[in-house]
Amino acid sequence: MRTEASILENLKYQNFHFLMKMMAKEKNGKDKILVLKEVRKSFGALVAVNDVNLSVKKGQLVMLIGPNGSGKTTLLNVITGTYKPDKGKILFNGTDITGWEPYKICRLGLVKTYQIPQPFMNLTVLENLLVVCHGHPGTSFLKACFKGKWVKKEEETVEKAFKILKTINLDHMWDKKSSELSGGQMKLLETARALMSGAKMILMDEPAAGIFPSLIDSIFSYFIKLKKEFGITFLIIEHRLEKVLPYVDYVYAMFEGKVISEGLAHEVLNDPKVIESYLGG
Ligand SMILES: Nc1ncnc2c1ncn2[C@@H]1O[C@H](COP(=O)(O)OP(=O)(O)OP(=O)(O)O)[C@@H](O)[C@H]1O
Ligand SMILES: [Mg+2]
Repeated sequence: MRTEASILENLKYQNFHFLMKMMAKEKNGKDKILVLKEVRKSFGALVAVNDVNLSVKKGQLVMLIGPNGSGKTTLLNVITGTYKPDKGKILFNGTDITGWEPYKICRLGLVKTYQIPQPFMNLTVLENLLVVCHGHPGTSFLKACFKGKWVKKEEETVEKAFKILKTINLDHMWDKKSSELSGGQMKLLETARALMSGAKMILMDEPAAGIFPSLIDSIFSYFIKLKKEFGITFLIIEHRLEKVLPYVDYVYAMFEGKVISEGLAHEVLNDPKVIESYLGG
């Protein structure tokens, strides 16, 4: 016969497990910076993004692959607000950003690199980082009259810029005109500018396109350094997955608007559905 004490003990045990389950669920939700639920975008009769579910964990580098026309760019454009989804939900850092204007999404820290204006070729590398900073108190007419109000912020901004430049090995070029940078360095400068603008998550559409194959490795290793040192999350569309395999935490594969596979890079690359999509596409 069960005693009162044993029933109580059992209840405590059940509560404990319930609590642990709830905490794990909470943690799982919290470590996701981007969550897409059943997101759809059509162009007339063509469903370019077809009820996509996808999530990205904070601090990861996630790759989006798929043959031409599978909906990758459209999906990125829906996430950043360029296109409004027909249905579904997009959550960034727990905030429902579905249907928001691109500038508001960008301000929240979800940035597609092209949203950052192209580098000013006549400005130096450092100046290019300083001009993208939001909310500098010196830009307010009243505060500008009181040096004490903005000088500290200015020092911190320059310090942050140098920290970023050092991470991507461009600090020695801080006073060079950005027109003197190579294509690969320009890509890194673009990423640095996104970071300076307050990005927490950076989206890129084929960043290695037009870059010498031998430089792709080095660019991605700098992305990894930025990821580690600044806790930045990346969602990157890339065709040449085999080139960037060592840098990838997780992969989503799309085909005809749908996510057809997800997982670790080698799992997705060896998924027969993915292989078939490329052969048929
Ligand atoms: N603005 C648009 N109007 C009409 N159709 C569009 C538009 N943008 C994309 N599409 C169509 O939506 C589908 C998905 O295109 P999308 O550019 O998203 O694919 P993708 O996976 O980025 O391809 P790629 O690898 O070639 O860049 C394609 O059939 C494309 O023609
Ligand atoms: Mg595309």
